[in-house]
Amino acid sequence: MGMSGKIRVGVLFGGRSGEHEVSLASARSIMDAMNPERYEIVPIGITHSGRWVTSERSLEMLRAAVGSKTSAAEIERALEPEALPFPDLSLLAQLDVIFPVLHGPFGEDGTVQGMLELIGVPYVGCGVASSAAGMDKAMTKAILTAHGLPQVRYQVILRSRLDASIAQVVENLEAALPYPMFVKPSNLGSSVGITKAHNREELIAGLWEAARYDRKLIVEEGIDRAREIECSVLGNDTPEASLPGEVIPNREFYDYAAKYLDNASQLLIPAPMSPEQTRQVQEMAVQAFRALDGAGMARVDFLLSREDGRLYVNEVNTIPGFTSISMYPKLWEASGLAYPELIDRLIELALERYADRQRHEATVMSAR
Ligand SMILES: Nc1ncnc2c1ncn2[C@@H]1O[C@H](COP(=O)(O)OP(=O)(O)O)[C@@H](O)[C@H]1O
Ligand SMILES: [Mg+2]
Repeated sequence: MGMSGKIRVGVLFGGRSGEHEVSLASARSIMDAMNPERYEIVPIGITHSGRWVTSERSLEMLRAAVGSKTSAAEIERALEPEALPFPDLSLLAQLDVIFPVLHGPFGEDGTVQGMLELIGVPYVGCGVASSAAGMDKAMTKAILTAHGLPQVRYQVILRSRLDASIAQVVENLEAALPYPMFVKPSNLGSSVGITKAHNREELIAGLWEAARYDRKLIVEEGIDRAREIECSVLGNDTPEASLPGEVIPNREFYDYAAKYLDNASQLLIPAPMSPEQTRQVQEMAVQAFRALDGAGMARVDFLLSREDGRLYVNEVNTIPGFTSISMYPKLWEASGLAYPELIDRLIELALERYADRQRHEATVMSAR
């Protein structure tokens, strides 16, 4: 703790992903809700191009995020004199705990977590392996399969296979899965690069589209008019699940526009489901969290078939949207844990996990 007796919390926001703006909105909500008697907030911004702004000026990034007409490039230019190409590790190491509020690649994928492990500072949320596994849909699926969790049928395809023979890839996919199929880059988020293919022509276009974003692609069986159920998980070794919620996208599926542009998708909290289904979602959410060896928090997303009532785990988001109106905190609120207390709990969990890791005996490599 600093001289003030307050916990010094570094809040990391922005970042090099397509979800930069979402991150700014989440970080703003979090910082506004943190009890100033208890915490000293150290804002740390990462620009679109990955430069680090640790001065008070990082707050300009946040201000710019809300309804400003300043473009990302203008903000970047304005911050240029104070931005560093790399994080200031000695500054980060002085903090009591770091809250990475970074969605997507270079933040939610284990990279930042690895850096924080190296400098030995506690941080909120999942560790390196679970963050990386949660970001990579192919990895997530392999792990969830190993743990017997129900998922839609899928195939993993390397981009190099498309280059070699797209005709062969399409033939194999059509033999394995019915239309419509969902085509996704394995490592991304916010629906970028995801398309729904109703026929061969759309499948080919979708494969090339996803290949713009990753070398590894996922093709899935589409669940017709699937209900989208989400459940928040909180905890370390004894994780708990919130009440489930439901997203009603206002488009054919929950694509990028539905998530961030139209602002018209509806959240139902709690999701209208039978007590039995609710229990099933909660149980599977905790199982998925445990399967990935999660820590702190994650939002586990499901697809629920309207045809036969079957439930499939779709993905695990280790740094879910965190504005005060986002699903993750809203579900906790509905489950009896208010937004500011949720932040307190996450910080506590980060400190607990760090302390637990300090228990390990150091491995000493003795000279032979
Ligand atoms: N197999 C599927 N069947 C039906 N809808 C799907 C399927 N996969 C994805 N979707 C739709 O696409 C959206 C985005 O897919 P998702 O896997 O959640 O990617 P992201 O990580 O970008 O959120 C989902 O919220 C859902 O609307
Ligand atoms: Mg999703």
